[in-house]
Amino acid sequence: MTMHLLLGQTLGFSGNPLTGDWQGTVLFDSAGGILIENARITATGNGAALRRAHPDAEVTNYGDAIISAGFVDAHMHYPQTGIIASWGKQLIDWLNTYTFPEETRFGDRAYADAVADRTLDLAVAHGTTTLTSFCTIHPESVDAIFEAAAARNMAVIAGKTCMDRNAPDTLRDTAQTAYDDSKALLEKWHGKGRARYAITPRFSPTSTPDQLRALGALWAEHPTCLMQTHLSEQHPEIAWVRDLFPQARDYLDTYEAYGLLGKNGLYGHAIHLEPREIDRLAEVGAAVVHCPTSNTFIGSGLFDLMGLAKAALSIGLATDTGGGSSFSMLRTMAAAYEIGQLRGTALHPAQLMWLATEGSAGALKMAGEIGHLGAGAVADVTVLNLQSTLAIAQRADRADDIWDALFPTIMMGDDRAIRDVWIAGVRQLR
Ligand code: GUN
Ligand code: ZN
Repeated sequence: MTMHLLLGQTLGFSGNPLTGDWQGTVLFDSAGGILIENARITATGNGAALRRAHPDAEVTNYGDAIISAGFVDAHMHYPQTGIIASWGKQLIDWLNTYTFPEETRFGDRAYADAVADRTLDLAVAHGTTTLTSFCTIHPESVDAIFEAAAARNMAVIAGKTCMDRNAPDTLRDTAQTAYDDSKALLEKWHGKGRARYAITPRFSPTSTPDQLRALGALWAEHPTCLMQTHLSEQHPEIAWVRDLFPQARDYLDTYEAYGLLGKNGLYGHAIHLEPREIDRLAEVGAAVVHCPTSNTFIGSGLFDLMGLAKAALSIGLATDTGGGSSFSMLRTMAAAYEIGQLRGTALHPAQLMWLATEGSAGALKMAGEIGHLGAGAVADVTVLNLQSTLAIAQRADRADDIWDALFPTIMMGDDRAIRDVWIAGVRQLR
């Protein structure tokens, strides 16, 4: 097995820069290196010292480029790749007009395979090495994304989206078939290679209490699976949930009452939360996922990142493709910055990079395994060129420190800024 040594400006983290002093959590070396053996990072440190200690390692020198953990997208919908950037609708109309007709097509395995391949190619081109995806109600759509991920040795988390009401006939299952199909799929995929299964009720408006109860029971039987859904994204949606579940204390209670609140739970959006919801999410150690380009694109609202971080919630960052308007986690960081500004907090580049790597990995309960530039982690690595366009380069040229040099790439960068990607120690040939 070849030993690889990557040289460049290494950027990693030893803690959470959202809470407390961010400086103390940054591991930055302008002449750093990472050693890769057998798909994992086995050492990080000074590049020259690593070179002397490992003269047999194959060296790739990235010069001034930043070597980071690969980006981790903690919430997206691969079946919506084809309808990204669809005009003019807010959440419920957007689902009915664009999303549901497109998702109907995923009963065709060849179509699902083509979109799964395209989505993972786009992810890697944008420096994303792990993504967490909703599928459609069709079990074939789950096989398609996991097979595409296995072909690339990517750590992908996915699950069959369950809906038994308020969706077109062609996209409805039942409480029993949602349970049976999800069970068969998680037995097939959860823990196979790098795959992890997420039990996936779409959101409480499209599941009956019977279906939510059945999926809660399945999660209790398979507690190492993740559970992903949506929570408190848009005001009309929240009012609809109140009508559908009149006895619920709040939106989160529509999950909690049926066994769908737990530490391996991932709650997308979580914008308009009540104090009780925040307390309960924190108490059980569940994670919320910030989807900033989606929250502005669909007109949902301004996620309270700092408030929720202070409440000790685990927070991931995500594109929410195709409600989100970009495949790029750089653009996603930029949108998180812009929303932070509207809420009165200028997020530091270190905090943004942490969210896109360690934060998301923590939300997925995979901290130390992915999203981490340190010994023991899988070698999923993204290398950023800080001079990828004229607009970025002319600004970065005046930078007097690494953060000033990196921030223009966060704000203006796209797939052209991705100099290279490694997945499980294999270079993705760029
Ligand atoms: N809520 C329920 N389904 C969806 C979806 O597909 N996208 C977004 N953004 N929100 C949802
Ligand atoms: Zn979503």
